[in-house]
Amino acid sequence: MNPVTIVRRFLQRKPLKQIWRIADGVLGGYGYDEEPEIKVAALKVRKNTMTSFERLATLWQQVRYLDRYNIEGSLIECGVWKGGSIGMMAQAHLHSHAKPLREIHLFDSFEGVPEPIAEKDGEQTVEWAGGRDQGALKSIGVCVGTREECRALVEEQLGYPSRLTHYHEGWFQNTLPIEASKLGPIALLRLDGDLYESTAVCLKHLYSKVVKGGVVVIDDYGHFEGCRKAVNEHIASLSERILLCHIDYSGRYWVRT
Ligand SMILES: C[S@@+](CC[C@H](N)C(=O)[O-])C[C@H]1O[C@@H](n2cnc3c(N)ncnc32)[C@H](O)[C@@H]1O
Repeated sequence: MNPVTIVRRFLQRKPLKQIWRIADGVLGGYGYDEEPEIKVAALKVRKNTMTSFERLATLWQQVRYLDRYNIEGSLIECGVWKGGSIGMMAQAHLHSHAKPLREIHLFDSFEGVPEPIAEKDGEQTVEWAGGRDQGALKSIGVCVGTREECRALVEEQLGYPSRLTHYHEGWFQNTLPIEASKLGPIALLRLDGDLYESTAVCLKHLYSKVVKGGVVVIDDYGHFEGCRKAVNEHIASLSERILLCHIDYSGRYWVRT
């Protein structure tokens, strides 16, 4: 491993991770189109997201692409925590349209992540979950954000209209079988539920609603074994050809063809 990679990896460890992520993202020069606007937007959501600057910047660009080509559909995130990624999507869309058009849907338990399943999520994730490995829909007490934190950011601070902002509170396994049929076309589907089942259930119920030219974003592909497994199984089941695009060590996305 080269010395620069070693230093980067070191700085990405907690608790330096948070400081590094902001400094590296906001002070660094990446050459993203609209980088100054992206940095301003990223600063507004930084306390409400765990994701990286690269994933936020790419999310901005994905929404701007959807708006540029008038690709129809809503913006959806499954696994919102405190709403930072949703806030980034909202800001990108507001940058395109002062009067926003897109419905935003936030799916989360607002209780944190449920138990992983040993065979699907792997040892490291079970360890992270304090040894809980039965897949029970019971919070492991990790990643607990609230609906109020999301509302305060997206509606109050960023000014996204309440009439376009929809909260679906509960375990994906319970909400999606009911709510998915009520959703219209999806322009952007962002999955950030960490685990195998939390990813697989979203792909099962929501993927077919993503329009042609729409974007699917996976936050945890590189970070969580179970998420990667669920995505790989899903891709293998499709007749569509998927180019899984790299965002950073964990984030991936593809555009539906
Ligand atoms: C890593 S956090 C999301 C981070 C967020 N997207 C961001 O921008 O930083 C994972 C979220 O997924 C939610 N989650 C995971 N599995 C879930 C499930 N099966 N049902 C409902 N919520 C789930 C957790 O409550 C948590 O808020």
